[in-house]
Amino acid sequence: MRKTKKNTAIILAGGTGRRMRGDVPKQFSFLGGIPVIAYSLNVFDSCEEVSDIVVVCHPGYLEDMERLVFGKDIRKPVKVVPGGETRQSSSFSGLENCPPDTDYVLIHDSARPLVSRATITSVLEAAIEEGAAGPAIDTTDTIVEQAGAFISGMPDRTVLKRVQTPQAFRFNIITEAHEKARETGINDSSDDCGLVIAYGGKVKVVRGDSLNIKLTSSLDLELAECIIRKGFGKDIETRSKVP
Ligand code: CTP
Ligand code: MG
Repeated sequence: MRKTKKNTAIILAGGTGRRMRGDVPKQFSFLGGIPVIAYSLNVFDSCEEVSDIVVVCHPGYLEDMERLVFGKDIRKPVKVVPGGETRQSSSFSGLENCPPDTDYVLIHDSARPLVSRATITSVLEAAIEEGAAGPAIDTTDTIVEQAGAFISGMPDRTVLKRVQTPQAFRFNIITEAHEKARETGINDSSDDCGLVIAYGGKVKVVRGDSLNIKLTSSLDLELAECIIRKGFGKDIETRSKVP
């Protein structure tokens, strides 16, 4: 991969983790002895393809986040910026705060602390080839459509995938998709790949990682603890490095 590209990682931590029901938003919850967001910071900081990091934080927690981020030994230039009311507006805030010469962005949910370097590299490489890319995994459950109290359909599972983050984009592709969405009054899209597709763009699918779970409820936090304790994942040492 050419080193001359400027690839900025945007780590989204603008939510409040309502479904987790914790005392603090889930990005600040402790996992394996360190805050959830520290995992994403560590792994993006350790990727040589990544040049800069932008952390998008809930406006009510900026000081806590700055203390956490600047108290760590992060080697890359890092900024902490306020997010918005929806994931989409936080993602847009991240894009607005990228260094102006950014070529590619990797947009990542801090709620996925177990992301591996291998996933980051493969998503970025695919975006450099195709313009946009996202990691996806198969659905193991049969998925059904429900109408009222009954099953109304059973879509073909082989074409249904579960998309994860980080998602990577050529900078102009994702900023244009966000700008178009805002112009047409769409403010609550939950996925950046979805915005690119909505405006006619193509997104390459790369192989996701079933260990890259999204922490949604407290059960997921326990599951992540188990994954870490078992030492699953190739570069878990890097990710769980104590600051
Ligand atoms: N996110 C964000 N800004 C928002 C909402 C969400 O940056 N206004 C981020 C979250 O911090 C999280 C990611 O988007 O890392 C995925 O969102 P989700 O899992 O829904 O997190 P929360 O919105 O915090 O959780 P909940 O929906 O349960 O309140
Ligand atoms: Mg949410």
